[in-house]
Amino acid sequence: TVGNSTNIFWQESPIGRLERQKLLNQKGCVVWITGLSGSGKSTLAFSVNKELYSRGKLSYILDGDNLRHGLNKNLCFSAEDRTENIRRVGEVAKLFADAGLICIASLISPYRKDRDACRAMLPDSNFIEVFMNMPLELCEARDPKGLYKLARAGKIKGFTGIDDPYEPPLNCEIEIKQKDGVCPTPNAMAGQVVSYLEEEGYLH
Ligand code: PPS
Repeated sequence: TVGNSTNIFWQESPIGRLERQKLLNQKGCVVWITGLSGSGKSTLAFSVNKELYSRGKLSYILDGDNLRHGLNKNLCFSAEDRTENIRRVGEVAKLFADAGLICIASLISPYRKDRDACRAMLPDSNFIEVFMNMPLELCEARDPKGLYKLARAGKIKGFTGIDDPYEPPLNCEIEIKQKDGVCPTPNAMAGQVVSYLEEEGYLH
């Protein structure tokens, strides 16, 4: 029995991960971007996506906000639903990585145990956790969608960072933060991620 199913079997294709890796000349992995709303997750995801494209490397973005329009449209922002949200995206990201893509997942993913569960799904530690370590005050000042304002006014309940928790990573691979009170540019942030991918052998 697997989950709620019985009489199910795993079928292995003769063309595997290594064959696809050779074909694409890159190694599939998951770049998991976590952080508060307004911390710059999507900006970083777009920038990494673009930089990899310009180097002839195939990546694909799974964005939390966007996936909630389809795959995850039956989920709300309760702790239980956020956990299910992350689990589903983790499973999809795992498939993309297995297909050979550099899968960039960009979600608040506020709970450490949920992110760790995604990490545990990936073989050979092909899970690169990127923490957008931006102060709440900055995210709130940016407020690109006006949601912090609504949360402060009590019009959104359970908003991450206001009246819902965010657990920062303890051991992430990459941390993006301000230097001397200045945020790195999108290009500089992407450079940090792409250099890591290069050094760890994901790009050849
Ligand atoms: S989570 O926590 O990982 O399941 O969230 P995620 O799927 O990434 O979706 C986050 C986006 O949903 C909008 N939004 C909220 N965020 C946090 N808390 C509450 N209550 C909430 N309600 C709506 C918000 O626009 C988030 O987008 P980003 O891109 O993070 O700003």
